[in-house]
Amino acid sequence: METILVVDFGSQVTQLIARRVREAGVYSEIAPFTKAEEAFHRLKPRGIILSGSPSGVPEEGSPRAPQMLFDADIPILGICYGQQVMSHQLGGRVESGDSGEFGRAFLTVTQDCALFDGLWEVGERHQVWMSHGDKVTQFAPGFEIVAISDGAPFAVIADEKRKFYGTQFHPEVVHTPDGAKLIANFARHVCGIAEDWTMAEFRAQKIAEIREQVGDKRVICGLSGGVDSSVAAVLIHEAIGDQLTCVFVDHGLLRQGEAEQVVSLFRGHYDMPLVHVRAEERFLSGLAGVDDPEKKRKFIGKTFIDVFDEEATKVGGADFLAQGTLYPDVIESVSFTGGPSVTIKSHHNVGGLPERMKMALVEPLRELFKDEVRELGRELGLPEQFVGRHPFPGPGLAIRIPGEVTKEACDILRKADAIYLEEIRKAGLYDAIWQAFAVLLPVRTVGVMGDSRTYDRVCGLRAVTSTDGMTADVYPFPSEFLSNVATRIVNEVRGINRVVYDYTSKPPGTIEWE
Ligand code: XMP
Repeated sequence: METILVVDFGSQVTQLIARRVREAGVYSEIAPFTKAEEAFHRLKPRGIILSGSPSGVPEEGSPRAPQMLFDADIPILGICYGQQVMSHQLGGRVESGDSGEFGRAFLTVTQDCALFDGLWEVGERHQVWMSHGDKVTQFAPGFEIVAISDGAPFAVIADEKRKFYGTQFHPEVVHTPDGAKLIANFARHVCGIAEDWTMAEFRAQKIAEIREQVGDKRVICGLSGGVDSSVAAVLIHEAIGDQLTCVFVDHGLLRQGEAEQVVSLFRGHYDMPLVHVRAEERFLSGLAGVDDPEKKRKFIGKTFIDVFDEEATKVGGADFLAQGTLYPDVIESVSFTGGPSVTIKSHHNVGGLPERMKMALVEPLRELFKDEVRELGRELGLPEQFVGRHPFPGPGLAIRIPGEVTKEACDILRKADAIYLEEIRKAGLYDAIWQAFAVLLPVRTVGVMGDSRTYDRVCGLRAVTSTDGMTADVYPFPSEFLSNVATRIVNEVRGINRVVYDYTSKPPGTIEWE
């Protein structure tokens, strides 16, 4: 496969570079600078992109690219620190600036170069996003200036002979309006990659790999009803059919109709061997009297593993455990303290399982970003309603019921949540929102319905926009929408007599209430 290798020097936005390349239909992988040489030999890339970094080239001990990359006779694009480190390593000079350029800036194109072909013309001014203190003060032999900006005389430099390019700005962020096109130009035009990396191809390739890995052995997969585990299960099933058994641990903390949907989709539509474990009572009885959020999480996580393990034993065990691990969970990140560090998050629902069950892993989504998993789901024919679902936390409704979790509270919350989501879908807003859900508060307030006094619980509504769940903004519903939802919930859900809307962004709030 024709690949672009992204060498990571620890920038916060390195992942975006790989995403932009993939959006251009070209496969891309990220490797920390310490492992770039090994990745180079493994991937045999057609081009290299050097990322930004929180370090500065003049700083002692700051990272360098393996020198062999510059001798490999393939195109290189250095972004920000990447431009500086390339200049430095090829014989130029980089100095710490007294003042930097941060945020929006404008550059002027001074010369044609292959990177700009069909996009930018000499004399044009273009908005870009800068974030640098240091700058190149003398470029390396062979390079020329092709664009300038006020703060960085070497806004873009190029060595057309070697096909080396350096941008002081960040083309990977959305604040550089033509950035995605520049990256696409690099991959397609400069590196000459014609091949399309498509989901159809990925699907075929993964199916072959899964067959090769699994042979005639058995695989077990924990289904949560979420997008990742569902897509992984469907893909593996397509590869190995009935050698896959899915275990759906229904902890009774799911949304309205969710368990039925999962069972009918996988058992009915896909005809997969599926064990539906109804464990509501076990979970709810263990949660009785527990109101601390972390205790709830720990109990649910541990019980999930216990139940899964028991069921796996009942079906005769398996040699492999399938997980819906995604690319952001496995990218080795470069730490800010200098030394590279490995951050590997375990899958929320089944973290701890592989160690306990001593099974090898099948993780067919390891190379994909979340939106690519959705695309693969569509490619595999999963219904849009499933593929486009908002994220739902492993501990489910338990962390949306502050205080003690009871069956009665879950039932009340399920009804309110279903009304809220129904109205959001009706208004055509579902896809514009990252996550929307109702919360049931443990306080009671006084109300009046008809001629009677009520004394019932409060329902909180939450809706946020986000790109990765790390930060989030409140979704600004029109007030008529919220009044309509509030009226419906109070009228239709016994046990709730007041509805409030959560106006807190993240930070300082979190998306979930617990
Ligand atoms: P917070 O509340 O931390 O949520 O802003 C960020 C994202 O993570 C989800 N979330 C969880 N997912 N187990 C999960 O599987 C959990 O314990 C958990 N807590 C929060 C949350 O729904 C949001 O998408």
